[in-house]
Amino acid sequence: MNARATRTFAAALSLTAALAVSACSSDSGSGSGSAGGADQAAPVVSGAFMPEPVNTRMAGAFMIIKNASKTADKLVGASSPLSDDLQIHETKDQKMQQVPSMDLPAGGELKLERGGNHIMLMGLKSAPKVGDKVTVELRFEKAGPVKVEVDVKERTYTAQNSTAH
Ligand code: CU
Repeated sequence: MNARATRTFAAALSLTAALAVSACSSDSGSGSGSAGGADQAAPVVSGAFMPEPVNTRMAGAFMIIKNASKTADKLVGASSPLSDDLQIHETKDQKMQQVPSMDLPAGGELKLERGGNHIMLMGLKSAPKVGDKVTVELRFEKAGPVKVEVDVKERTYTAQNSTAH
């Protein structure tokens, strides 16, 4: 093998390696190479509320989720004693649609707010009233689950302090 052939062979090898890496990172949804796991700081949730639902068909939950860690994470699901079917919804062109996950950037936050992203509880087992609390457990791709007490508020309630800090 002459020098030129060796270089070509090496280039082919490194291309194969690059393909393998990108395939791997798209599988896991993260190219950071972080192992994640137990050292992942738990996301912190603030201002969680649910407007009093009109009926038991569905209810929306809104909150701000902060990720203080240096690793990007994702909200991948939620559960609650109030419903067996919690969905992650985004709002596009004033229509909401279910998405499999939502990004929680490293050192950033994910805002679930009226008219935008939210957690939707489908088929409620009871209709909570203003002043009640609804427990919602959030699941993340890397961090452990986080339990949130969601305050049931008036239907017109909006989180006025959500942008104040
Ligand atoms: Cu929705």
